[in-house]
Amino acid sequence: MNKIVISFIFIIGIIVTGIILGKLGKPYNGILFNLHKLISVGTVIYLGYILFQHTKIQAMDKMTITLTIISIISLIILMISGSFMSIGKGNYTLIRIFHIITSTSFTVSTGVLLYFNFR
Ligand code: HEM
Repeated sequence: MNKIVISFIFIIGIIVTGIILGKLGKPYNGILFNLHKLISVGTVIYLGYILFQHTKIQAMDKMTITLTIISIISLIILMISGSFMSIGKGNYTLIRIFHIITSTSFTVSTGVLLYFNFR
């Protein structure tokens, strides 16, 4: 299967489980919460792997480097904000906004990155 299609399925999986998780509210559904985290970790491993393989064939250009940095920064904020929401620390509304903004920046930067490198 095409790398873009596989990545798309992974990212859709994270977003769908995240939205249902948010809709069901607190206390978070344990299975769904773990599924959301597991698919995120799986996605990161898969993206890291295909990108690493790709750099063996072709050096990263400036755009790819910039997009990778945006994706990694978004991912760090996603993990921190996700953890804070789950343990109930900080301002929930503000942290949730951060989670939503960075999930968007992660999806867009990763999408463009995949499109230009794997189409
Ligand atoms: C690539 C990584 C991730 C993406 C793209 C992502 C995306 C999303 C999205 C789109 C939502 C729905 C927000 C809403 O409308 O309510 C969500 C919810 C949530 N995510 Fe993530 N997420 C990611 C990683 C994580 C991680 C690593 C954690 C935990 C450590 C986490 C914890 C949560 C929690 C607790 C919610 C429910 C928020 C609520 O109460 O509305 N997420 N996520």
